[in-house]
Amino acid sequence: VSMSELIATLEQQRDLPNDLLCSLLETDRYDAALFQAADRVRRQRYGTDVFVRGLIEFTNYCRNDCYYCGIRRSNAHVQRYRLTPEEILACCTEGYALGFRTFVLQGGEDAFFTEQRVCEMVSAIRERFPDCAITLSVGEWEKSSYRAFFRAGANRYLLRHETADAAHYRRLHPQPLSSENRKRCLFDLKDIGYQVGSGFMVGSPYQTTENLCADLRFLQELEPDMIGIGPYLTHKDTPFREQPNGSLAQTLRLIGILRLLFPYALIPATTALGTIHPQGREMGLRAGANVVMPNLSPVSVRKLYTLYEDKICTGEESAQCRSCLERRVASAGYAIVTDIGDVRR
Ligand code: SAM
Ligand code: FES
Repeated sequence: VSMSELIATLEQQRDLPNDLLCSLLETDRYDAALFQAADRVRRQRYGTDVFVRGLIEFTNYCRNDCYYCGIRRSNAHVQRYRLTPEEILACCTEGYALGFRTFVLQGGEDAFFTEQRVCEMVSAIRERFPDCAITLSVGEWEKSSYRAFFRAGANRYLLRHETADAAHYRRLHPQPLSSENRKRCLFDLKDIGYQVGSGFMVGSPYQTTENLCADLRFLQELEPDMIGIGPYLTHKDTPFREQPNGSLAQTLRLIGILRLLFPYALIPATTALGTIHPQGREMGLRAGANVVMPNLSPVSVRKLYTLYEDKICTGEESAQCRSCLERRVASAGYAIVTDIGDVRR
């Protein structure tokens, strides 16, 4: 199949048979055509708009022990912190003044933050910022808890499926974590009415091309509003310390493919992408991404939310991040907008 044919089929059909999808994932031959098509599709739907989400990493305590993650329970080198409700609200207030209309509350699965405490945090933000979207990213819960958060005022939820393959999932996570429960959570969230974000790491240990293909198929089934991907990055205090980083090229290629499979999707140029290459986020935008998620956490805790090594922006004030990103987005040919940034289905 010729280059233009393959990419044109993907663009028009919004799909490809498995064998072609797999070969596309494994070669750089189509990249230029892929990114060009992805940019065209993204401009049709979103113009040059880039949405910003203010990320507040409110706790680095976690009960889980994911083998890849720097803040896993067994990492005794982490200095643990949790923000107070006042500190969280102060981050939102600062973010609002800087033009953020979406706040992403992310944290480990911290037992201190019971259903009731998460609800209290969400209602406090909802009351103060009625015109903002509140996104939670706090892992796996029972459906009843997800419903309680929704009633308290949360309207979006980020939960990467990490890998759609159950056996691969078990190689990345110790029991009792399972791919099955992760997927159950995602469908529960969708059923409740959240705008749902899912995604996966690119180049995670033991990942095969077939696994990536299965990830794309799972996303086709879920039809999430947001799809977050980034390269797997090593952390020296995890069991995966010897495992190499994922690749920039393959992450960009996947962003391009995601844009063509899901023209409507909100796709962030992630911090991990900016960490693996100084211009990674700009390249992500040009490959089809349309969201950036600057850090709004207090500078005093930023270095402590270390999922992987050399994480960027850990010394910057929120205002610096906003202007830094504004410049970076403009240099890629797009523009940050002050907008709640809902999905355009
Ligand atoms: N606890 C919540 C959860 O599990 O969804 C939110 C926090 S969790 C740290 C957020 C995401 O970080 C995960 O979904 C995972 O994909 C990503 N992550 C963790 N460790 C990483 C690493 N070493 N490299 C790249 N991404 C990583
Ligand atoms: Fe934080 Fe660039 S986004 S300094």
